[in-house]
Amino acid sequence: MDFCCRLILSGCLAATLSFFVFVFSLGAQQTPAAGPPGGARVVSAADKDCLQCHGPKSDQPVGDIGVTKHGTATDRRTPDCRSCHGDSGAHIADPKAAKTDIQYHAKSSTEPAKQNGQCLACHRGGHMILWPGSPHQSQEVTCGSCHKMHTPRDPVMTKTQQTQVCTACHKQQHVQLKKPSRHPIVEGKVRCSDCHNPHGSAGPALMARDTVNGTCFKCHAEKRGPFIWNHQPVTENCALCHEPHGSTVASMLKWRQPFLCQQCHEITSHRGAIPSLTAPGTTTGIGSTLARSCVNCHTNIHGSNNPTNSAGSRSFRR
Ligand code: HEC
Ligand code: HEC
Ligand code: HEC
Ligand code: HEC
Ligand code: HEC
Ligand code: HEC
Ligand code: HEC
Ligand code: HEC
Ligand code: HEC
Ligand code: HEC
Repeated sequence: MDFCCRLILSGCLAATLSFFVFVFSLGAQQTPAAGPPGGARVVSAADKDCLQCHGPKSDQPVGDIGVTKHGTATDRRTPDCRSCHGDSGAHIADPKAAKTDIQYHAKSSTEPAKQNGQCLACHRGGHMILWPGSPHQSQEVTCGSCHKMHTPRDPVMTKTQQTQVCTACHKQQHVQLKKPSRHPIVEGKVRCSDCHNPHGSAGPALMARDTVNGTCFKCHAEKRGPFIWNHQPVTENCALCHEPHGSTVASMLKWRQPFLCQQCHEITSHRGAIPSLTAPGTTTGIGSTLARSCVNCHTNIHGSNNPTNSAGSRSFRR
């Protein structure tokens, strides 16, 4: 029985292997379609027209589009030069006199909606669904101002280079990213697009998930709880206390304590006093903004899981 099984198994294995060899050789047969060296590829007759003058050795080479996803010559959905740049008959006839029909460079005279329409013809579904009406769409930011089509790796899709693309326009975040307490964004460990969906969002500020908190929980799941004793602002919006792009205050807090807490808690009783450590467990003490200030005592500021219904649990001290 056992032997029989093995026989069948090894038979299967051999069949699978030869299948792969077959598929591989099929792939190999088709690779010449990936086009001439230098990254340019020929998808259609239209490409040949353009490449007469834009081949790898010309003054206006097309760069490495051949090695990008737009260079998969074997995929029927792959665009040719004209799918993006338009028919450009006048340009072909006299390239010095006429530009292409659709231009993507920064000083392009093609209106943004028309440039984007060219891309949206193929990229409508999935993550693009919320593009219409999104802040970038309505402020006429073009696909091409974030995406580069003729480089081997699109910088905005590359962890370590995305920040530069975004902060070219978003100067305020550029400054915040350099503050002492911050996410490791400059290091490429966290990207803008981990928290933001630049194509559109159902949440505020182009959040990647529907809410700010939902987005933070992608990586800080422990702050979700559930807690027996919740601190109301934590359940509402992490950004009430935190500045996610960077802050001069430790733990990326928006303000120093006690001022942070005093934004919401009346400055009567010890909440208004400048707290100290002189009498831990009580609210008395004379003071200075020692050590961690209010969270010296209110250590579980995001919520407490102490089961006892005591002042200590309710006020997040245990
Ligand atoms: C997927 C869309 C797309 C395809 C396909 C495409 N291009 Fe482009 N092309 C662009 C965009 C967008 C730019 C702007 C710069 C960039 O993205 O790198 C550009 C820039 C250029 C430039 C440089 C112009 C400048 O302003 O510096 C040339 C030349 C060019 N394309 C020629 C071609 C040729 C020839 C083909 C066919 C082999 C082709 N393109 C295929 C989208 C495309
Ligand atoms: C007869 C040669 C020739 C052919 C054919 C040609 N181009 Fe060009 N192209 C040029 C030259 C030369 C320039 C530079 C023009 C300049 O600097 O004024 C240029 C510039 C460009 C530019 C940058 C300026 C612009 O118009 O946006 C793009 C993009 C471009 N070509 C795409 C294409 C595409 C796509 C095709 C095919 C549909 C094509 N070209 C066919 C010679 C040609
Ligand atoms: C004719 C159809 C067509 C057009 C027009 C087109 N694309 Fe694409 N695009 C594709 C296909 C096909 C893929 C590969 C999809 C896949 O592998 O799932 C792709 C992939 C991409 C990717 C993903 C690349 C990656 O490395 O994962 C980006 C970004 C993109 N396109 C942007 C654009 C932009 C910007 C434009 C307009 C300048 C554009 N596309 C125009 C068909 C098109
Ligand atoms: C504000 C910058 C920005 C603009 C504008 C923008 N994109 Fe993107 N796009 C990105 C970033 C960042 C990613 C990578 C997202 C990720 O990896 O999570 C991306 C990813 C993509 C992908 C690949 C998605 C995938 O799942 O692989 C496609 C396709 C794409 N964009 C198409 C477009 C088209 C079409 C437009 C214009 C209608 C556009 N983008 C406008 C920043 C932008
Ligand atoms: C850790 C998550 C996170 C990362 C990473 C992140 N952001 Fe944000 N961003 C947010 C949150 C949360 C808000 C909303 C802030 C608020 O409500 O106060 C926001 C708001 C914004 C806003 C709107 C600001 C305003 O005043 O309306 C811009 C623009 C922005 N981010 C750009 C960026 C850029 C560019 C990057 C990358 C350099 C980036 N963000 C990285 C979480 C993040
Ligand atoms: C070409 C310039 C440009 C680039 C590049 C760019 N943005 Fe924007 N962004 C804008 C404009 C314009 C707005 C709308 C006006 C505003 O709120 O400042 C905007 C708005 C935003 C907002 C705020 C949305 C809101 O609801 O307030 C966020 C978040 C954002 N961008 C993130 C990004 C990220 C992430 C990237 C990189 C992947 C990026 N942007 C790249 C120009 C740009
Ligand atoms: C893509 C994952 C990711 C997302 C999403 C994310 N973070 Fe972070 N967060 C990190 C990483 C990584 C660190 C650095 C941890 C370390 O250095 O040990 C960090 C650290 C922090 C810190 C501590 C900083 C310090 O100085 O100790 C705070 C506060 C923080 N994040 C808040 C937030 C908030 C608020 C959000 C939602 C707006 C958020 N994070 C979303 C990955 C993420
Ligand atoms: C009421 C203000 C407030 C809100 C709202 C808040 N935090 Fe905090 N957070 C703090 C304080 C204060 C610290 C510093 C604690 C310390 O020094 O022990 C901190 C520290 C952190 C840290 C770093 C230290 C640690 O405990 O891991 C992370 C990560 C963090 N918060 C994430 C979040 C997330 C995610 C949310 C939303 C679910 C959130 N915070 C909401 C006040 C807040
Ligand atoms: C954005 C507003 C906001 C900020 C900032 C804030 N809190 Fe709160 N806090 C609340 C709200 C709302 C409640 C619930 C109110 C209630 O139950 O009376 C609460 C409840 C509390 C409680 C429990 C109250 C009780 O009656 O048992 C303590 C303790 C507390 N906060 C401490 C802090 C400390 C310490 C800080 C600073 C690190 C802080 N809070 C920052 C809004 C805030
Ligand atoms: C020395 C320890 C200690 C420090 C420091 C401290 N607290 Fe408290 N806090 C307590 C104790 C103990 C209670 C419970 C008192 C009670 O129930 O009678 C309490 C209760 C609270 C409460 C809820 C009940 C109430 O009396 O209002 C709030 C809100 C609060 N603290 C805010 C703060 C803020 C804001 C700071 C920083 C300015 C702070 N605490 C600093 C020990 C401290």
